[in-house]
Amino acid sequence: MSTETRQRRVTTARLAEMKARGEKIAMLTAYDFSTARILDDAGIDVLLVGDSASNVVHGHETTLPITLDQMIVHACAVVRAARSALVVVDMPFGSYQGDSRLALESAVRIMKESGAHAVKMEGGETVIESIRRVLSAGIPVMGHLGLTPQSIYRFGSYVVRAKDADEAAHLVKDATLLQEAGCFGIVLEKIPAALAGRLARELAIPMIGIGAGPNVDGQVLVTHDMLGITTDFSPRFLRRYAELSTIIGDACRRYMKDVKAQTFPSREESY
Ligand code: KIV
Repeated sequence: MSTETRQRRVTTARLAEMKARGEKIAMLTAYDFSTARILDDAGIDVLLVGDSASNVVHGHETTLPITLDQMIVHACAVVRAARSALVVVDMPFGSYQGDSRLALESAVRIMKESGAHAVKMEGGETVIESIRRVLSAGIPVMGHLGLTPQSIYRFGSYVVRAKDADEAAHLVKDATLLQEAGCFGIVLEKIPAALAGRLARELAIPMIGIGAGPNVDGQVLVTHDMLGITTDFSPRFLRRYAELSTIIGDACRRYMKDVKAQTFPSREESY
C-alpha cells in the first residue's frame, strides 16, 4: 500500500467518533509481524496483542503463564507491522493486580519498549487503583469485564458471566467506574447480549464484545480461532471465517509428497 492510499492511524479519539456515528469497530488479536501486517492491510481498526498468545502461540492451557517480557516481544512485532491500526497490548497476569506502582512500571515498559498505543487490563473495582495510576501517566487504558480469563481459577469455568441480577449489577457498576476513571473502551467477554447492549447504550465509551451479542460498538475475536488455525475451541460465539488448519495441513502434505518423490525442487526452481 502506498503512503497516499494508506489510512491515517486509528486513535482512541477515532474509536469514540466511530461509536458516536454508529460505525462498528473491528478488532482482532495479533502476535507476530506477518499476520499483523495482513490484518492491518485488511483495514482492521484495532490489533490486540492479547495474552491469549499464552494459549494459541505458546500452548499453555490458560493465559496465566505468559510473562511481561514475552508480551513485549509480541507487541514489538505487531507494532512494526501496524501502519494504521491502533495497537493495544494486554497487561499479563501478575503485572498489575494489587500493586499500582507495579502496574505503572509494567505499562511504561510495554509503551517504551514496544511503541504500542494502549494497554488493556482485566477487572473493575479490584484493579481500579492500578488503572488510575497508569492513566495518570498518559497511557490509554482499555478495560475488560465479564469473563476475565486471568481469573479463571476464581471462576472455576469458562461459562457465561453476569447471568444473575447481582453479578449483572456489579458489572454495570464496574463498567461505570472504568468509564469515570478514563478508560477509552471496554471489552465485554461472554455476557448476555441484553446486558452488553444496555452497557453500549448507557455508556459513552465503546463497548467491544466477544460473546456479548450484536448490540455493542464493536467485536473482537482471537485471530487463530476465527481463521480456523485452532480447531479444538468452538464456543457458540465463534464464527470461523476460514479453515486454515485444513489448508495448511494439505499444503504440508503436498510439499512432503513432492520432497519424497523428488519432484521438488524442479530445474526451474534451482540455480
Ligand atoms: O487475550 C485476548 O485475546 C483477549 C480477547 C479475548 C479479548 O483478551
